[in-house]
Amino acid sequence: MSITIVGSQLGDEGKGRIVDIFCDEADIVVRYQGGDNAGHTVVIGDEKYQLSLVPSGAISGKIGILGNGCVVNPKTLFDEIDGLRKRGIDPKVYVSQRAHIIFPFHKIVDNLEEVAKKEMKLDAGTTGRGIGPTYEDKAGRRGIRVGDLLDEELFLEKLEYLVQKRSKIASDVFGSVVDEAFDVEAIYREYCAYGKRIKNEDMAIVAGEFITKEIKSGAKVIFEGAQGTSLDIDHGIYPHVTSSNSSSGYAATGSGVSPRIIGNGEIIGIVKAYLSRVGTGPLPTELEGEFADDLRERGGEYGTVTGRPRRVGWLDMPMLRHAARVNGFTGIVINHIDVLAGMGDIKVAESYEFRGESIRTLPPTTELWGECQAEYITFPGWPECDWRDIAENGYEALPKTAQDYMDYVAKEVDADIIAVGVGPSRSETVLRRRPFNW
Ligand code: IMP
Ligand code: MG
Repeated sequence: MSITIVGSQLGDEGKGRIVDIFCDEADIVVRYQGGDNAGHTVVIGDEKYQLSLVPSGAISGKIGILGNGCVVNPKTLFDEIDGLRKRGIDPKVYVSQRAHIIFPFHKIVDNLEEVAKKEMKLDAGTTGRGIGPTYEDKAGRRGIRVGDLLDEELFLEKLEYLVQKRSKIASDVFGSVVDEAFDVEAIYREYCAYGKRIKNEDMAIVAGEFITKEIKSGAKVIFEGAQGTSLDIDHGIYPHVTSSNSSSGYAATGSGVSPRIIGNGEIIGIVKAYLSRVGTGPLPTELEGEFADDLRERGGEYGTVTGRPRRVGWLDMPMLRHAARVNGFTGIVINHIDVLAGMGDIKVAESYEFRGESIRTLPPTTELWGECQAEYITFPGWPECDWRDIAENGYEALPKTAQDYMDYVAKEVDADIIAVGVGPSRSETVLRRRPFNW
């Protein structure tokens, strides 16, 4: 049995918290794409955990797996594991032998490319973690995988080739100085040590086989998406996207299980009650000025990974309808309802005005999306409430106006609301039903 959790907008919809709650009854949590560009925040009691690579479920003692579709920075991986151990949590994390490795030079090239693109406004506003260049090397068939780190001789051969290519790109294409981030010997030493630790701690697995076998014997598995559908490399707002597929279809490919496993399970879309965005590109419902500042402060809208202030906007229904189609949601979770409390009327882009017509879903290119003007409808807002009290008393205890707002969203994406987030912590969640009731 499986639940796949995906972001339905631009990332930071609050996936980590929901994964954490559903985890109570799960056995395994799998990440299937992305790397340490993702920022997951989980709040349990007074403790706040911020993870960028280790699956959120590892905090509650579940098995965490990084699937083949992930790109792994081993330094981040071990820093996060050690950080959790210091706080008394002993996470069990496995890594697919087929997952690709991020090296220091990937970060350098990530930033060089962003700077080069800036003038043409083609930069993505990346997290600078080297995610894109690592996926480039994967597609270029010169990438190095977790399995390669376990064979030091083979690793050295592959590393020499990769560094040679990457330093040429850095110097000849971008005119950059090739520094210690390209030093084969130093990288080899550091990464062999990671390989040893992966071996010693028995972390490398054939993830697809492992997960499939566990599911066949009754395990409950959560596939934890990172980023969001509008950041998906195929279905997002290209080129202002991440370099992997963050939508539900990739849960199969990126973890090595059959699409039937994903399709037979639930696919839950996480929706933020408004929009936030850390990168570049058009945003038809973008808010500016004092109201935007206010919303940013109230929602704590600063990047988990980068600390950058996030851009904010009203909810965008064409974006959500697109996400519902791409992912096939069986349910949605709406988060941050408390953030909008007391802010007056709430606007929603019901459709776009596009070249004299009204359209209800995204146009095919980002340039055309940039031409779209939001056509708004207005909902009466809701007041500040005792959210913990509401969380205990269920959906019907929410202000009627907030229910109307959410019921509208659910109807438009044709999926039930299974939970509502009314604050950052576990206890500030209105749970309507648990997927599968497992
Ligand atoms: P990259 O994933 O670092 O290559 O960045 C590509 C784009 O995705 C940029 O616009 C980033 O801001 C955005 N992005 C990547 N990861 C996240 C995330 O976890 N939350 C929100 N935005 C993200
Ligand atoms: Mg995040």
